[in-house]
Amino acid sequence: GGCSIFFDTDSGITFEVQRYDGWYNNLAYHRRGTTGAPLVRVLPARYSDGAYQPLQEPQLPNPRRISNVAMSGKSGFLSYRNQTVLSSFFGYHVVLEIVESRRPGCPPEYMHIPVSPNDPVFGNNSTEQVLLPFQRAQWDHETGQSPNNPRTQVNHVTAWIDGSSIYGSSSSWCDALRMFQRGLLSSGSDQDMPKKSDSSYLMWSTPDPSTGQTGSEGLYEFGNAWANENIFTVAEGIIWFRYHNYLASRLYKEHPSWSDEELFQNARKRVIATFQVERKVLCYQKYVDPGISSEFQAAAIRFGLTLVPPGVYMRNRTCHYRSVVNSDGSTSPALRLCNSFWNRNNTNLKSGQDVDDLIMGMASQIAEREDNIIVEDLRGCYCFLVALGIRGDPRYPEHHIP
Ligand SMILES: *[C@@H]1O[C@H](CO)[C@@H](O)[C@H](O)[C@H]1NC(C)=O
Ligand SMILES: *[C@@H]1O[C@H](CO)[C@@H](O)[C@H](O)[C@H]1NC(C)=O
Ligand SMILES: *[C@@H]1O[C@H](CO)[C@@H](O)[C@H](O)[C@H]1NC(C)=O
Ligand SMILES: *[C@@H]1O[C@H](CO)[C@@H](O)[C@H](O)[C@H]1NC(C)=O
Ligand SMILES: *[C@@H]1O[C@H](CO)[C@@H](O)[C@H](O)[C@H]1NC(C)=O
Repeated sequence: GGCSIFFDTDSGITFEVQRYDGWYNNLAYHRRGTTGAPLVRVLPARYSDGAYQPLQEPQLPNPRRISNVAMSGKSGFLSYRNQTVLSSFFGYHVVLEIVESRRPGCPPEYMHIPVSPNDPVFGNNSTEQVLLPFQRAQWDHETGQSPNNPRTQVNHVTAWIDGSSIYGSSSSWCDALRMFQRGLLSSGSDQDMPKKSDSSYLMWSTPDPSTGQTGSEGLYEFGNAWANENIFTVAEGIIWFRYHNYLASRLYKEHPSWSDEELFQNARKRVIATFQVERKVLCYQKYVDPGISSEFQAAAIRFGLTLVPPGVYMRNRTCHYRSVVNSDGSTSPALRLCNSFWNRNNTNLKSGQDVDDLIMGMASQIAEREDNIIVEDLRGCYCFLVALGIRGDPRYPEHHIP
């Protein structure tokens, strides 16, 4: 559409409905912060040919070696600020809200990372060279033709804190999540849980490393494509899904005559406001491009990864620990992060009650320390890398490498 404000008189809405794609928030530069806008640069690009070829070894050190030297170490040290696991995954949810630049480019370009035979995790066995799979990210095809116009990667979600991680970054995405009754988002057979995916259209899908299952069947549908990455981000998504439906139901009780659209947009407006207050971001500066910079997305955001623990306890309403069932039927005291990537059918997370128990556990567990150490479940999880090997490792497209 071409206009920033619409008053849909049929639906009874009399306020400006927030667009889904982030257009026109900046009245002078309409495209700033929108879905599909290029990432911003703080410093000039540094490609080996000036235009798009990456700088690699030997001009730069090996990324895995840097990771081993700078990011490895013992886990189990607690956050200095007593930050909880729930808040650290909320931080990750906010990252997914403002930046998504992990989709692999087309045509595909690979930049696999060679692993030294001395690598403690990946190097041990081999007589042949081990490569960590790595695919370069999508870029703005208007860029990358010359040193005057070096390649720039794209943000696939809005850079605004506008609820795109809950409602999607386009109106069609949002429509696919809606029930179109009483202002609700669609739920599954359990009202407390979102609808499961029946197409691969919305959700990013990577094979489940524990079962090998591919396709999007069994993944939940959320506003951001990566929400199924692990069960802790799923739990975050479910919290916001429930909050929307809670508000919509309450508004329906107060205003039974309101249309679906009126209920939906009023609930959405309140959810977005709550999300913004949680982040304490209430105003944007008019002259500053709100676009996410390559530098911010490569470095600043990665800080949150140091808080992520190797496992999370589940606790019931009276705070008793609940044991966790593994895929082979044995039990463990906690859900291991390494085993929780791209699960479709996690036996520990079937019902709304299970999600409550996980959220209770996340809210009452202190996160890992704010330091340089990233747990092996993220840094050296072999099953995770194998699963991603099919597509490259989309956690680390090119601008994530230091
Ligand atoms: C963290 O929790 C511990 C134990 O309850 C307490 O002694 C300490 O003061 C807390 N630290 C902060 C920064 O709140
Ligand atoms: C590497 O292999 C050696 C000999 O087989 C073994 O003792 C050691 O535990 C292995 N290290 C790792 C990290 O797997
Ligand atoms: C090393 O070899 C063992 C046994 O053959 C295998 O289970 C393991 O996956 C191998 N590790 C790597 C990193 O290739
Ligand atoms: C929580 O678990 C404990 C131990 O299994 C049990 O005694 C208690 O009744 C449970 N509480 C709730 C609210 O289910
Ligand atoms: C999910 O797991 C259960 C066992 O826990 C199994 O019976 C069922 O077939 C699985 N469903 C899918 C879709 O894989």
